[in-house]
Amino acid sequence: MSIEIKSLAPEKRHSCPKEFSFGVTFTDHMFTHKFEPSKGWHNALISPYHVLSLDPSAAVFHYSQEIFEGLKAYRKADGGINLFRPQENVKRFNRSAKRMVMPEVDTGLHLEAIKSLVYLDQDWVPDQQGASLYIRPTMIATSPKLGLGASACYEHFIIAGPAGSYFKGGLTPISVYVADEYRRAVKGGVGEAKTGGNYAASLYASEEVINLGYSQVLWLDAINGRYIEEVGAMNICFVYEGKHIVTPELSGSILPGITRDSILKLAPTLGYKISEQRLDIEQILADIDSGKITEVFGCGTAAVISPVGKLGFKGQEHVINDNQTGDVAKTLYDELTGIQYGTREDKFGWIVSL
Ligand SMILES: Cc1ncc(COP(=O)(O)O)c(C=O)c1O
Repeated sequence: MSIEIKSLAPEKRHSCPKEFSFGVTFTDHMFTHKFEPSKGWHNALISPYHVLSLDPSAAVFHYSQEIFEGLKAYRKADGGINLFRPQENVKRFNRSAKRMVMPEVDTGLHLEAIKSLVYLDQDWVPDQQGASLYIRPTMIATSPKLGLGASACYEHFIIAGPAGSYFKGGLTPISVYVADEYRRAVKGGVGEAKTGGNYAASLYASEEVINLGYSQVLWLDAINGRYIEEVGAMNICFVYEGKHIVTPELSGSILPGITRDSILKLAPTLGYKISEQRLDIEQILADIDSGKITEVFGCGTAAVISPVGKLGFKGQEHVINDNQTGDVAKTLYDELTGIQYGTREDKFGWIVSL
């Protein structure tokens, strides 16, 4: 199946504004693609950015049958554009689709749609340091029916918009608070899928920790209330004695992050040991307090690496590395962003250039 392109006339197109806020400004075009049982996926189309028109009874509005992805396009110094491991995003999209009883999308077509949209709106890929074009593939259940059950019809769409550097003026540690009462996801649930309900479920606890003066929630497992899972919408890593990176093993309720996977592959090439383990919050806090843990950081597409300087739990604050960014976080950040922006060698073949 090919993608039809109906583009705006050149004189009607915009280029990326110099100032923008994440997630509120979008490029000139979008991709849409529809599914009906009798036709399968059809009408793969790139057309001017527009409002979607849906019946108020559409299943997505009531039962949240919805999935999404998030990836970025990076402007290289020579003007070219890089995507970072986009095949992994389209694969994860299909895994999320399967879990949410939604039809999978041909991975070749999905990747082509992402590339064609970014190519058409290439003037929107910002060139400021640390900025990028954020790409948001989404699928929603569109059948107009309130009866509970998987929808028959779906819409898959992709929108994109500029994202500024997450850290203005260098990596700055964040503070996180352990959610003691609330859980993000449970094994057997949908935490492994990138589906909107997980994020809606996280908002209440996020508000609470913000009111306590922290910026993100550290999530514990829902069965024992003891094992560390994720931080905000990022995976998490702990560094022992400056050289051994430890991250929670994928438990069935953790989103398998592409940045996390990249760190697992990259760290040994940079001289670090890395392991995936079940991590008990009490042991982690003891190891922070004794100084065995020298760094903590979150990892994900948005910030790449986000150092954690303070960890609050049950009213007590534990400070990590004097609330400073550590060498491991900095080294991984420089290496990953170097690969993304094309200034460091792409030894793993992760880059797809446009
Ligand atoms: C809940 C959650 N965990 C982890 C991540 C990090 O995943 P990735 O590295 O693929 O961006 C994300 C972001 O996508 C997320 O939403």
